[in-house]
Amino acid sequence: MTEAVHTRRVFSGIKPSGGLTLGNYLGAIKRFVDMQSADFETIYCVVDMHAITVWQDPAALRHATRELVAAYVASGIDPEQSVLFNQSQVSAHAELGWVFNCVARVGWMNRMTQFKDKAGKNAEAVSLGLYAYPSLMAADILTYHATHVPVGEDQKQHVELTRDIAAKFNHDFKVPDFFPQPEPIIDGPATRVMNLRDGSKKMSKSGASDMERINLTDDAALIVKKFKKAKSDSEPLPDSVEGLKDRPEARNLVEIYAALDNSTPEAVIAEYAGAQWGRFKPALADLAVARLEPITNEMSRLMQDPAEIDRILAKGADKANAIAQPILDKTYDIIGFVRR
Ligand code: AMP
Ligand code: TRP
Repeated sequence: MTEAVHTRRVFSGIKPSGGLTLGNYLGAIKRFVDMQSADFETIYCVVDMHAITVWQDPAALRHATRELVAAYVASGIDPEQSVLFNQSQVSAHAELGWVFNCVARVGWMNRMTQFKDKAGKNAEAVSLGLYAYPSLMAADILTYHATHVPVGEDQKQHVELTRDIAAKFNHDFKVPDFFPQPEPIIDGPATRVMNLRDGSKKMSKSGASDMERINLTDDAALIVKKFKKAKSDSEPLPDSVEGLKDRPEARNLVEIYAALDNSTPEAVIAEYAGAQWGRFKPALADLAVARLEPITNEMSRLMQDPAEIDRILAKGADKANAIAQPILDKTYDIIGFVRR
């Protein structure tokens, strides 16, 4: 129903909070690239305001913001075709985020599993922003009336909360179709890339050991070494995908291969059924190097011209603002804020 009144618009974002991993690339960036097409208007954001929910050194934040833009562009996001910008340059995000703080209920926020994981036993000492973060994420999406949100599995609950916030706003203010119900797009073989040393944990930039993740800045030798040392098990590869069921490490490596190869776990198993790790791991490492090395090289080339990156962001922010501001204005009118 909402599809009828809203265009097909994609919004997604990544935090500039330190190095990018293969999980970010396969679970997010690569899929953002794949969605750039005539079917969608695509808006991709460097969510710097989300990053500061935990402490960021200012110089490091500036560097990580530019590096993430370089990663987007090096991976194939075209700043002419997509809107590419950083969140803090478009004030509608913060403004609508405040409105949504007044729409979302504390009970809803208390159910967010990522907050519970991140806050851990320290819930009294984390920032208020970390707690409110999903309502800012709802504002990111809804200030563009975005309909499609490609994310990794870990963000599904936040997109569902966004739908609840949209529905409550529309209901409370009697504007049934104003905010759309955005769809989380969680597809492909790598929506949850796991840690290379422990297949039960997500690959993340903050994990303790560097050997458990592939960073987008790793060189070829290091990528090969990390896959060689990756945890596997004592069995050869099975002859069907079902055979991966209770083998989290094996499954993860097969899924990484499939995602890098634009193929499927079924196709990978068809090719490597019965193979020993001594054959599969070097093949996987070669594939990863072939796919990642051009991106890494292009990222370092782009990073040599930070002024150019800042120009891309400024242009993107103007384009983003042109979409977001009229929607924010309309929201303020609906709420009853007096405007000039
Ligand atoms: P973050 O780095 O937390 O800002 O995440 C940015 C995007 O990358 C989100 O869409 C995440 O779901 C995705 N992502 C992060 N880590 C992984 C992973 N290990 N596997 C798949 N997707 C991931
Ligand atoms: N919360 C997301 C993450 O941690 C990042 C994010 C912020 C986002 N705003 C968004 C993702 C809007 C999709 C849409 O990964």
